[in-house]
Amino acid sequence: MPGLARTPVTELDLVSPAFKEDPFPTWARLRALGPVVRVRLPIFGTVWLATTYEAVNDLLRDHQHFVQNPAAAGNRWMGTIVRWLPGGLRPLAANMLLRDPPDHRRLRGLVDQAFQRQSIEALRPRLETLAEESLDRLAAAAARSRRGVDLVAHFARPFPLSVICELLGLPAEDHTRFTRWAGAFSKSFGFAALFETFAGLNKLMLYCRSEYRRQRRRPRGGLLAALIQAEEAGDRLTEDELVAMVFLLLAAGHETTLHQIACSVLTLFDHPEQLDRLCHDWGLADLAVEELLRYVSFAQVSKPRYAREDVEFGGQSIRKGQIVFACLASANSDPAVFSEPTRLDLGRPSHRHVAFGAGIHVCLGAKLARVETAIALQRLFTRFPRLSLAVPRSQVRYARRMGLRALDALPVRW
Ligand code: HEM
Repeated sequence: MPGLARTPVTELDLVSPAFKEDPFPTWARLRALGPVVRVRLPIFGTVWLATTYEAVNDLLRDHQHFVQNPAAAGNRWMGTIVRWLPGGLRPLAANMLLRDPPDHRRLRGLVDQAFQRQSIEALRPRLETLAEESLDRLAAAAARSRRGVDLVAHFARPFPLSVICELLGLPAEDHTRFTRWAGAFSKSFGFAALFETFAGLNKLMLYCRSEYRRQRRRPRGGLLAALIQAEEAGDRLTEDELVAMVFLLLAAGHETTLHQIACSVLTLFDHPEQLDRLCHDWGLADLAVEELLRYVSFAQVSKPRYAREDVEFGGQSIRKGQIVFACLASANSDPAVFSEPTRLDLGRPSHRHVAFGAGIHVCLGAKLARVETAIALQRLFTRFPRLSLAVPRSQVRYARRMGLRALDALPVRW
């Protein structure tokens, strides 16, 4: 393909503290280079990145030219990774985020109903109770400490975790165990951390399989039992697909919302006038959550897409099998769509952000995450109106995790 060899490659640092603290200038620099740019990333090497709102939407909705399963695009990279994975983790490759139609449609169809607007609205009172219970534990932890309490460990993680466990029908007494394992994938930078992450993933995967086997004998009610019924009713999903689904829902159902809640609280501390506005008018909560989703853009980059064939895209010639990422955070700060995008405005009317992705893989849990974040913020700031950081702002650091905006800890007091 002419021109490919000459396409310049941009070096990207997506983990430095300076970048994590203020990613907007990097996104602006990338958009200025073009809607699709070549960048070098650790692990992945040289890949393409869609930078503008338009290019990101086009990429995520073009299921004809771009696929999730690298094998379908003749890319063996993923196959090699899967072969290197410990045996217990291999079924992870069967999760629906890595599948294309028709498999994706079949798997998503099995869980879509449980996450639709009406189903989530019906859960709202229960979600409020679970939030209050988590806040009780936060208050108890604060009472034991003079130096403040970590909001991530004592509220932002346990609340969404208890919600997704209840939805799946997993026993509440198991939360502490998998909080420990899931905590391991919050520290992923460098080889030692990667090793810890794999160990945590492996334990969580073994847990999902043993719970599946237990509930086959003695169902507890909830989504896992419904999936087992679907499995038993015919050939709609295999055991590995079912276990991968439970794993995906458990991991995606809390590792995401937890960071959205924690980063939202920090963002509000950084913008006290906006926090004040919200606390005086909780009718603004839904709009505020949309703006915080856009502004934080916790998932900065999508999962990789692979070109199914040679294709012209965003003015670039992309070869079959090459990787293209959608930079969701860059799309969410594109001034072509959002006026003054680096300004936090909780009353911003537009809801067109792509924090949850777009196309057929758009986040399954978007409605749940929205409601959970709104409830978390309202309950937290209503119960503790004098909530503030317990350490100087310079001591709060974003985690060095590529592609994600996450906080390892957020010490607070009131
Ligand atoms: C604020 C919180 C959340 C954010 C920002 C978020 C973001 C995303 C994004 C960007 C994608 C698409 C990735 C891609 O196309 O490469 C996605 C997919 C997904 N999310 Fe979320 N998510 C959140 C919460 C949740 C929750 C609470 C669940 C609970 C079930 C969930 C389950 C999923 C699943 C299953 C997929 C794959 C969907 C598919 O492949 O069809 N997410 N999420």
